[in-house]
Amino acid sequence: MRPLTATDARDMASLHAQSFERPWDALEMAAHVARDLCFGVEDKSGQLAGFIILSRAADQAEILTIATAKSARRQGWGRTLLDGAIAELRTLQVSELFLEVAEYNSAALALYRSAGFDPIGRRPAYYRRAAGRVAAITFSKKL
Ligand SMILES: CC(C)(COP(=O)(O)OP(=O)(O)OC[C@H]1O[C@@H](n2cnc3c(N)ncnc32)[C@H](O)[C@@H]1OP(=O)(O)O)[C@@H](O)C(=O)NCCC(=O)NCCS
Repeated sequence: MRPLTATDARDMASLHAQSFERPWDALEMAAHVARDLCFGVEDKSGQLAGFIILSRAADQAEILTIATAKSARRQGWGRTLLDGAIAELRTLQVSELFLEVAEYNSAALALYRSAGFDPIGRRPAYYRRAAGRVAAITFSKKL
């Protein structure tokens, strides 16, 4: 896992577009790189296989997004990113990590549960999707 820079913004946007209905473009990604904690993993050919963006304030942090390339899923990249990010946050004295995830996102729910996150709330109709509004589940993990 390595910190991402502005030169990664286009690849981050491309992965995000594969993963979400409302993609964040390269400009938004560059803004996140400048403002937030952004880490990526690369496959053997040096291609970005996944990335995670976190915001930190004092001793709390939040996962803003995590995505892996469609062609590289279920190969451990998501867990590598999550575990790596948690290790980085611990070095920054962050004591609690939060996230929210769409209620139907079974892959992400399984990833977070297996990483020791606990559900702490439900926000009905939180996300707007083509198919309609969907609830978000909020999770936290003490680090
Ligand atoms: C969620 C996501 C990041 C997982 O990435 P990944 O690289 O496939 O994850 P990993 O291979 O490291 O899987 C780790 C664990 O997550 C769970 N998991 C991942 N994908 C899963 C799936 N499709 N179904 C069920 N469990 C799944 C499993 O527990 C898995 O462990 P295992 O393979 O030992 O059973 C990826 O599916 C993705 O980018 N999805 C689209 C974007 C997204 O929804 N992001 C989360 C927004 S909150």
